[in-house]
Amino acid sequence: MGAIILGTGSCLPEKVLSNHDLEKLVDTSDEWIQSRTGISTRRQSGKGEEAYRLASVAAQRAMEMAGVSAGEIDLIIVATISSHMTMPSCACFVQKELGADRAFAYDINAACAGFLYGLDTVDKYLRSEREKKVLLIGAETLSSRTNWEDRNTCILFGDGAGAVVLEYRDGKQGIVGSNLFSDGSLWNLLYMHSAPSCNPDLVQPDNPGSFMLMEGREVFKHAVKCMEGAILELLARENVSMDSITLMIPHQANIRILNKLVSRLGIEKEKVFINVQKYGNTSAASIPIALDEANRAGKLQPDDLLLVCSFGGGFTWGAALLSW
Ligand code: ACO
Repeated sequence: MGAIILGTGSCLPEKVLSNHDLEKLVDTSDEWIQSRTGISTRRQSGKGEEAYRLASVAAQRAMEMAGVSAGEIDLIIVATISSHMTMPSCACFVQKELGADRAFAYDINAACAGFLYGLDTVDKYLRSEREKKVLLIGAETLSSRTNWEDRNTCILFGDGAGAVVLEYRDGKQGIVGSNLFSDGSLWNLLYMHSAPSCNPDLVQPDNPGSFMLMEGREVFKHAVKCMEGAILELLARENVSMDSITLMIPHQANIRILNKLVSRLGIEKEKVFINVQKYGNTSAASIPIALDEANRAGKLQPDDLLLVCSFGGGFTWGAALLSW
């Protein structure tokens, strides 16, 4: 039918940063953070835990589960907005780390929706290149792009990586369909500067540094509405009822967005996988980390219908349906 996931893996940095740790950095409290976001802890990368290294370990774990060696991988895609270099891509560093000599490699920049965009890309690639094997990774070290003096944003994000190995299979299993969107006109509600330009002619007045900036309330409203719309449209198109979904893995942004989305969709809460309390918002890594946890916990059985959805800077958003 399409691209199927052969194995999943994830990697989280060692250091746990609690809400109480953040109380020492900014004017906030554990109670405020928990009640507004559902987050208790997040992971923070240290030396030797760059995005490509987390990505490589997650990939090794996924390949091990899949029974696939690095030499068999044909394509490596990393969804990230926080690689340690702009060029080469994070994916090229992963290729080097793994020794995946025959793969070509590139990054996708679609913020928190990056992994979802990647799933769609890989599915279409594998439908025309049916003998190939693909490594798709979401990896972030957003701690390197966070303003640790800004309480509006520094409480939300965490570091980590998740990976999947995919190949094409005939039959019922695989990616059933996806429904993706972008709206660049709303870019200024959630954005992250790159380093300022070294070319004075290309200096942008709206690019002072490398931090994340966000209009939290606006992001909240758009996130709920957009993910709901993408999901309902996808299910209608694929003629799938909400009741037939076995598990939903939403992007782990914050618990209030998720609660609102879940109640608007009318899906049973027990069917929704949530780990935002442990890792915060790991952007492009959040879905593959959650997928790996759910998979290793035995929450996914053959033929289960899995719904994933995400929303992020750009804006970028969408949903995908997989038959496990
Ligand atoms: N600790 C204590 N007080 C705070 C903090 C903090 N960390 N941050 C803000 N406040 C204060 C504000 O200054 C404000 O004070 P005031 O009333 O004196 O002016 C008050 O709390 C309320 O601020 P709001 O921004 O209105 O709080 P809100 O209830 O909207 O919660 C939040 C903020 C959690 C950011 C919310 O808007 C949200 O979840 N937005 C979605 C953002 C998001 O998830 N972004 C991730 C990227 S996109 C994605 O992944 C979907």
